[in-house]
Amino acid sequence: MAVDPLIELRDVNKHYGTLHVLRDIDLVVDRGEVVVVIGPSGSGKSTLCRTINRLETIDSGTITIDGRPMPDEGRALARLRAEVGMVFQSFNLFAHKTVLANVSLAQVKVRRRDKAEADRRSRELLERVGLLAHAEKYPAQLSGGQQQRVAIARALAMEPKALLFDEPTSALDPEMINEVLEVMQQLARDGMTMVVVTHEMGFARSAANRVVFMADGRIVEDRPPEEFFTAPRSERARDFLSKILKH
Ligand SMILES: Nc1ncnc2c1ncn2[C@@H]1O[C@H](COP(=O)(O)OP(=O)(O)OP(=O)(O)O)[C@@H](O)[C@H]1O
Ligand SMILES: [Mg+2]
Repeated sequence: MAVDPLIELRDVNKHYGTLHVLRDIDLVVDRGEVVVVIGPSGSGKSTLCRTINRLETIDSGTITIDGRPMPDEGRALARLRAEVGMVFQSFNLFAHKTVLANVSLAQVKVRRRDKAEADRRSRELLERVGLLAHAEKYPAQLSGGQQQRVAIARALAMEPKALLFDEPTSALDPEMINEVLEVMQQLARDGMTMVVVTHEMGFARSAANRVVFMADGRIVEDRPPEEFFTAPRSERARDFLSKILKH
């Protein structure tokens, strides 16, 4: 049972044309909770993430962040969006700006911090993700794992109440996956509220409070990882697990 809801989706539905991509989604994420979302390709995981911070609109239902509905547009939306950071598979760093400038930029533009204060905070965050020595480099001079850690530092710089991750390690070479997962594990231990779409089942087992399994736009299972992985209830989940755990 939810004790301190931070993200709440109630009866959310969304279509892309005739495709019913989110069906009657009810999902509550408590403050400090880590929810891992898994499911087959096309099941709606990315769409779910994108609706939470209104990169996508919904057709019906409600989404609230810390008790407040997401505004439709304008300043209020920009502010609320800053409260829910998002980290994507592709890191989306500005290629022509240094690592430090990438982390500082939105602090100045959205949070209205002065540049020196933003840079000071950026350095703290770069230290936290193990990249302070690379502050003056450009993204192309970093490995994929390092770039993704910069993207995480940039998201943290907005002091979000929650972070959404959409397959943050899927574009990385295998040897770089762990350095990113370790940063995420540390965030989880520090109490960050996180919704993480990932195929990394080791991360789900060790960091998640709950695993949400989606298929065809529905939440089919929503249970603690040890229950989900040892005794999935649905045929869809059993089938999905048998496929991914073989690899
Ligand atoms: N902008 C869009 N316009 C039309 N259809 C879309 C759009 N974005 C996604 N879809 C469709 O919606 C469905 C859900 O897509 P979504 O990206 O949420 O799935 P996913 O679970 O994240 O899949 P994957 O594991 O491949 O990332 C898919 O059938 C997809 O083709
Ligand atoms: Mg996706």
